[in-house]
Amino acid sequence: MKIDTLGIFGGAGFVGTHIANSTAALGIRVQIFTRSRDRARHLWPLPHTELIEISPYNESSISEKISECDAIINLIGILNEKRDNGAEFRHVHTGLTKMLLKACTDASVKRYIHMSALNAEPFSTSYYLRTKGEAEVASMAAHDAGLPTTIFRPSVIFGPHDSFFNRFATLLRICPVLPLACAATKFQPVFVGNVSEAILNALTDRKTFGMRYDLGGPEVTSLLEVARYTSNLIKSSALIVPLGPAMSKLQANIFEYFPGKPFSRDNLRSASLDSVCRENNGLSQLGIQSTAINEVVPTYLGGKFERMRYYNFRSEARRK
Ligand SMILES: NC(=O)c1ccc[n+]([C@@H]2O[C@H](COP(=O)([O-])OP(=O)(O)OC[C@H]3O[C@@H](n4cnc5c(N)ncnc54)[C@H](OP(=O)(O)O)[C@@H]3O)[C@@H](O)[C@H]2O)c1
Repeated sequence: MKIDTLGIFGGAGFVGTHIANSTAALGIRVQIFTRSRDRARHLWPLPHTELIEISPYNESSISEKISECDAIINLIGILNEKRDNGAEFRHVHTGLTKMLLKACTDASVKRYIHMSALNAEPFSTSYYLRTKGEAEVASMAAHDAGLPTTIFRPSVIFGPHDSFFNRFATLLRICPVLPLACAATKFQPVFVGNVSEAILNALTDRKTFGMRYDLGGPEVTSLLEVARYTSNLIKSSALIVPLGPAMSKLQANIFEYFPGKPFSRDNLRSASLDSVCRENNGLSQLGIQSTAINEVVPTYLGGKFERMRYYNFRSEARRK
């Protein structure tokens, strides 16, 4: 199978940006579909890469734009919704996926890759995981109907500009005390470079058609260990206080109403489950050597912290 033009939905986000950088180096023509070309301006300079605005997303706007694509990668996802009723999650994860699958089938797209998440399943108590699960079911139905599909289900993903280690670093810098919900939950953080490699290799690899791959890194670690690791790395003196189930619930109920929802009720529901590869790790199934946290995270957290210190020095110098 030859892929001349690759379309990426949700391609301007954290994972998509990494994939787009890798594909630009490979020389494949890439079309990144986004709701706002302006917000995706960090991708403007990439060679062979076109940013295509679609707003709003609907069946006809998608069909019209994907006509040149041989393959589609769907990275669209949200972690929070305005209300805690599942409606926004259902629209973004299930609804948009179904629209995209129909458009792919109508346009005879040769290949579809779907990004889900570990623990996604249609009967989950978490709206995030439930709607991710529904999108998996729809994707596999499209596969059975003739659209070669592969699903990836990563644990939390790390790398420069992630929302995991970077978020902990920010919180540890600004809060003297960090109350930590779901501190004992286990994660298997996976490097964005490995996720991107798995997806790009799978594009033309027939043995991945119709498969679902769980993706995890080489270490299983608790949230508390992640917070402590980050704290050591940035030399924070903040006190990390692990919360039990009742206090975690209280924190979610309060933060649900904070602007930007730093932690929501649905986050609590999904973060109460360990996010680790249960049976097989897709990276080893696909022959990809997984990258350890300590090989990568110090390169970006360290750098950010150093830059922050210089920023502080400059601010202080101006004050004197
Ligand atoms: N990062 C992780 O740790 C992690 C772990 C497991 C699974 N995943 C999954 O991997 C995928 C990529 O994650 P990421 O970290 O790269 O996320 P991200 O940086 O937040 O990017 C998500 C993308 O989704 C698109 N999007 C969001 N709401 C949308 C809406 N209402 N309509 C259309 N598009 C919308 C955005 O596209 P535009 O703003 O450009 O339109 C954005 O670029 C997601 O499906 C996520 O659930 C991520």
